[in-house]
Amino acid sequence: MDYFQYQDKQLFAENVSVQSIVEQFSSPTYIYSRATLERHWKAFDQAFEGRPHLICYAVKANSNIAVLNVLARLGSGFDIVSIGELERVLTAGGQPEKIVFSGVGKRHDEIRRALDVGIRCFNVEVSAELDRINEIAGELGHIANISIRVNPDVDAQTHPYISTGLKENKFGLDIETAFMEYQRANALPHLNITGLDCHIGSQLTDVAPFVDALDRVLSLLDRLQGVGIRIDHLDLGGGLGICYRDEQPPLPADYVKALYQKLGDLPYEILLEPGRAIAGNAGILVTKVEYIKPVEGKRFAIVDAAMNDLMRPALYQAWQNIVPVNLTSTAKTACYDIVGPVCETGDFLGKDRELAIEEGDLLAVRSAGAYGFTMSSNYNSRPSAAEVMVDGEQIHLIGARQRLESLWQNEALLPNETEDAG
Ligand code: LLP
Repeated sequence: MDYFQYQDKQLFAENVSVQSIVEQFSSPTYIYSRATLERHWKAFDQAFEGRPHLICYAVKANSNIAVLNVLARLGSGFDIVSIGELERVLTAGGQPEKIVFSGVGKRHDEIRRALDVGIRCFNVEVSAELDRINEIAGELGHIANISIRVNPDVDAQTHPYISTGLKENKFGLDIETAFMEYQRANALPHLNITGLDCHIGSQLTDVAPFVDALDRVLSLLDRLQGVGIRIDHLDLGGGLGICYRDEQPPLPADYVKALYQKLGDLPYEILLEPGRAIAGNAGILVTKVEYIKPVEGKRFAIVDAAMNDLMRPALYQAWQNIVPVNLTSTAKTACYDIVGPVCETGDFLGKDRELAIEEGDLLAVRSAGAYGFTMSSNYNSRPSAAEVMVDGEQIHLIGARQRLESLWQNEALLPNETEDAG
């Protein structure tokens, strides 16, 4: 459930009309609902009912520092994949001891900084990363907590670009390699094995692949125990899907229940890394219709947001609901492709949508709180959209619209030609 609802035929974000936000901050603008973010985070947290656990929100889904701060205030942990995400979490008041560091390509400087601030654990994805972390920890006089990300080779039955737990994917180590690497890690002096990690993909709408993955992970844990390697926590990654259209993903409570049916009373602390399920339906992208363009056989609604603002439709043919902000339009209903101004045929937000709209109307792209702003770019020299968080009756600008000059502020002209040059 989310807090974007119609009241008197006007779309509201919590208690604020979306139209009034656009009047103040223009478009395109991302609008997030604090109550929705909190509700979704708590749904995961409460699903554990007193069992040891930590919800580590996946920062990549939406890394605005206000979003991170709202979650940090609830006591959230964080799953990061870069030093940029690490610094964001720290700036937002996240606790280092609740940060897990995932990702296949951690650089020296990233590992060093993470050790300096004392993160909770590295999720190791490459054998050589163990040696790198061990060496840096040795130099700094630290012991690094590690878990190995296991690739359990299960089919997450999701879009191939967001499926990560098959053996042909670049993520994690297969079970046999992980078994060997755990034994090697056990002998490295500056490493402390604390966990086992696994993430199989994103936008999963069924618990079965999660349970299959857990099954495989548990048999590896048995073998590790057999060689005297003790694990304290199991990090089962993120991936729980959301409803974009008519999907019926399990609720966090049902998902966690299914995990415990397999786990029984094993004493592991469980870590989860949800991103989309927390932030996805906590955000919308509001855009204005610039032009209606009828062509033979169809109509385009050309809007002021584009693939650079929301890449998911162009990149994954993802379907996101597009609704009018104001339902009182007198325009005739017609079928539209909603497209942006970017010079690419792939620049669309939605196709074949029945809408009653005219020039100047506002549209809201739903479910845009995760992998929306974070995946945006400046392609076509388009400044990034504004970001607003609504909290009850209050509106907070949490991301100013990018200024045009900032697009080239890090660029430089070549020096002037001098007379004797050449
Ligand atoms: N943990 C790890 C190690 C991950 O790689 C991811 C997502 C997550 C957690 C969070 O997964 P979530 O709960 O959000 O499904 N850009 C794509 C999604 C890419 C997901 C990448 N990894 C999209 O827009 O659908």
